[in-house]
Amino acid sequence: MTTVPDIKSLQRNATTAAQAMALEDGKAHPLRAGPHSTKFFELLESRRRLPVSREHQNFLDVYHKAQVMVLSSDTGSGKTTQIPQFVLFDEFASGKVVACTQPRRLAAVTAARRVAAEMDVQLGEEVGYSVRFDDCTTSDQTKLKYMTDGRLLREAMNDGNFSAYSCIIIDEAHERTKSTDILMALLKLAVASRPDLKVIIMSATIDTETFTSYFSGASTFQVLGRAHPVTINYLSEATPDYFFAALHTVKHIHEKMADGDILVFLTAVGEIEQFCSKLRDGLNNLEVLPLYASLSPLEQDKVFSRSSLRKCVVSTNVAETSVTIDGIVYVVDPGVSKQSGYNPRADLDILLTGPISKASARQRAGRAGRTRPGVCFRLYTEDTFNNTFIPTSIPGIFQSEIMSEILLLKTMGYNAVGRFDFITPPHTEVYLRGLQDLVALGYIADNGAITQKGRMAVKLPVHPAWYNAILESHKLGCSDEMISIAALASTQQSIFWRPYGPRYAADIAHRRFSCGQSDHISQLSAFHAYGHIREEMNVDQWCFDFFLCRRTLEEVIQIRRQLKGIAETMLGGPLKVAPFDANYKVIIRKALARGFYYRSAIKCEDQGSDIYVTVHGNHPAGIHPGSGLVGVNHEWVVYDTFLYTGKQYIQNVTAVDPDWLIDLEYFQDDKLSRKRGAGELRQPNVKLSLDKARAKRGQSSAHVPSTV
Ligand code: CDP
Ligand code: MG
Repeated sequence: MTTVPDIKSLQRNATTAAQAMALEDGKAHPLRAGPHSTKFFELLESRRRLPVSREHQNFLDVYHKAQVMVLSSDTGSGKTTQIPQFVLFDEFASGKVVACTQPRRLAAVTAARRVAAEMDVQLGEEVGYSVRFDDCTTSDQTKLKYMTDGRLLREAMNDGNFSAYSCIIIDEAHERTKSTDILMALLKLAVASRPDLKVIIMSATIDTETFTSYFSGASTFQVLGRAHPVTINYLSEATPDYFFAALHTVKHIHEKMADGDILVFLTAVGEIEQFCSKLRDGLNNLEVLPLYASLSPLEQDKVFSRSSLRKCVVSTNVAETSVTIDGIVYVVDPGVSKQSGYNPRADLDILLTGPISKASARQRAGRAGRTRPGVCFRLYTEDTFNNTFIPTSIPGIFQSEIMSEILLLKTMGYNAVGRFDFITPPHTEVYLRGLQDLVALGYIADNGAITQKGRMAVKLPVHPAWYNAILESHKLGCSDEMISIAALASTQQSIFWRPYGPRYAADIAHRRFSCGQSDHISQLSAFHAYGHIREEMNVDQWCFDFFLCRRTLEEVIQIRRQLKGIAETMLGGPLKVAPFDANYKVIIRKALARGFYYRSAIKCEDQGSDIYVTVHGNHPAGIHPGSGLVGVNHEWVVYDTFLYTGKQYIQNVTAVDPDWLIDLEYFQDDKLSRKRGAGELRQPNVKLSLDKARAKRGQSSAHVPSTV
């Protein structure tokens, strides 16, 4: 038996698997006083059986010599949980932190929780996590930090050399989120200037070639999985309705096939809930469990715990890569997911259900057969798989606008963002649209340099456009309200819950908070009501009755708290609370107008009631059905999002007065015609309306001073 070494005596780049294992096998805990717990040894036994663990020494042999390493293995083989621990022992002497990034909050938190248990330490001490609005680490003590890629990117803004870290592990790199892509580019630069920094790019066994050619000279390391075979079943004929096909398949498995848990992939929360309730109604002895990111931690835990009944987990894409559920034998894959796209000319977000990639389909199938041979039911034909599915999913950088990213890179001194070494560069038009909008907001000067305003805007933990709105609101005396509004706009889900079935009832319940002039104010009212109710007992019932999402409301409180601290520093004093008088809504709407003017639209007279056209680009848009402004007559509006979900909608809309816009540079004649394209003034009423407002201002200012 090897003698147990002192962890502090381990030499960087010279440790062995035997040393690490001796430390783990030892009675005494290497990092804290006292012995290892019994639970620790139980977990250790199963960890040692993972494919990655069997390669412990081989991994170290490569790691010691490499600065950048690309590591791939099948999901469930131990990458996320084991590799950071191997690295930690090797890097212990450096005194620096090992980071492991995840694309999703949920994955970062669950991985940290699991690894803290595996290492037998308190979560948040030696092993912690850091995600937006939730930091569970202890400085000087945390040695291994799971974090979202966005979080590490934020840190890089102040420290492009990643000097707090000895090794950075980019996990799930194949998911290619915007943040992961930018991090990889920054790390490529950082390793050149910091020879002691190590980088591991981890991905499932797809497309590792992209990464090795990007990081030229990177070592590769592949761990062969031990996954059991998975039988793939295709439909012989395409189904017109994957939802019912999936229901039918689950029923078939449950009634006809041997024991083993089921995992169903669906596209959205509403759909998942509907599916679950149909299963609960129709089948006995089946434990039906939804899984999606906005679920409460308690509900999420149920998915991972044992059950005496057969389990059927109905999940979004989170179960595709980020979390592993043991015991899954059957996978039902309808072959679709919600997919985002972006049209830079219209500044339009696209969200549609579409076919997944071949890589995704393989990944999904791999979720079966982890404990024993599995079966995957693909609810599409083999021909569809071969001829319709694209090879790998589309990188995030192609799926949305990139204003924050441009600003971030400019803050870090990368001025020519168009020439930044992205693994796959965004389309020039996306980049140009981002620049245009940033110039319109005053965050970038005409010569492309970042302005002082831009430097402030990028420090906010929300979209930079909010900075202008917050500044204006402070001048108008409602910055306290605006901070809440910004927080409300920055959650993944809306606080207003609009389930499939009782959607009509939900919309009626929401009317209690509804403001016909502003969705932002409607949300604010609900949020304020929640703030009062929260002190009372039956808050869950109250949220249920009013179709509000409690978890999201709590998230808003967190975002607000953090935003408030930053904003008060920026504004140099406490936030201002608006008096609840006749002007309350007016000043909030005015501040929104003066922050979101770059996303404004005017009513289109000739196209029926609820059609607007965007000022920039002349694109027609309806008002989203969830909005309180549907059917209300307003001439001008500003909005947060322009979205295509089968129809073009503007979402989160606030009616504004053209008088609040006319002195903005953006609305001067020469600027306007450029934005609307020469000869394309299909909506002459933009200019007419602004001119009318100017004339009115001229008259009224001669007589009465304007009130707001
Ligand atoms: O990252 P990769 O998919 O390669 O595997 P992992 O997340 O490190 O998980 C390795 C194994 O640890 C899984 O197969 C599970 O058996 C176990 N695990 C678990 O039981 N609970 C977790 N929260 C995470 C992992
Ligand atoms: Mg993993």
